[in-house]
Amino acid sequence: MEAIFNCPVCGGPAAAVSRSPLRVIHECECPFAEPERYMAGQQTLERRLTLPQQFQAALETNQRRYASYELAGYEPRTPSQAQALKTMQALEPGRLVFLGGPAGSGKTRLAVGTAKRLSREYGLSSAFYGEAYLVDTLRRAAGREVTRPDLNNPDILILDDVGKAAGGREHWMEAFYALVEYRYANLKTLIITANHDLEEVCESLGKDRNNSHALFSRLASEVVVNVIGKDGRHE
Ligand SMILES: Nc1ncnc2c1ncn2[C@@H]1O[C@H](COP(=O)(O)OP(=O)(O)O)[C@@H](O)[C@H]1O
Ligand SMILES: [Mg+2]
Ligand SMILES: [Zn+2]
Repeated sequence: MEAIFNCPVCGGPAAAVSRSPLRVIHECECPFAEPERYMAGQQTLERRLTLPQQFQAALETNQRRYASYELAGYEPRTPSQAQALKTMQALEPGRLVFLGGPAGSGKTRLAVGTAKRLSREYGLSSAFYGEAYLVDTLRRAAGREVTRPDLNNPDILILDDVGKAAGGREHWMEAFYALVEYRYANLKTLIITANHDLEEVCESLGKDRNNSHALFSRLASEVVVNVIGKDGRHE
């Protein structure tokens, strides 16, 4: 039996497993001796099995090109890529991450691969938005054409290619600032990718100098990774 099914309390192997509905049987004393920890562990197991699948299905529908991205397929070709991979392999949930670097250096692959890893390991929900798409969706939501996406609910949020959007700036600056603060305050993972460095992105997103400085110091105090590589797209 796969290790994922082991008893969440003592780590002993499962005696029987059936899926949908999920039922895992352990013959240790833990279900009786430590019922709360045991039940919590069973719930986490259920999330570890279902939430990564939901993220995968959403990627296949909305971001097909990125659906196959995994940390496992990441082959560092430069010291900065090696460092970036190490950082993302060790990342724990609840951090704000800024991945900066030129196009084709593998930022989106690192972001998606990391979200999948955290989702599988900890049973966390994930969502992926490209900035251009998100800005447009927020604009349409403001005009009541579509419902506003809930950016707070997912445990892990990827904002891809940030710092480019031109239209709908005001809305986006406010939404961006609010979501960074919300995620920081609630220990929810945020992974941002950008072609520009952190300072430039904050300048372009801050309403004024104070605002962009606040954004910069918030993100700079968390995890900032530079990914410089030979452009993988042109090989
Ligand atoms: N270190 C790497 N290992 C494996 N593939 C890479 C690496 N760097 C870039 N690539 C590949 O290059 C292409 C662009 O990667 P992507 O993550 O989309 O780049 P970015 O988001 O930085 O523009 C993809 O096909 C990706 O798989
Ligand atoms: Mg990208
Ligand atoms: Zn046990």
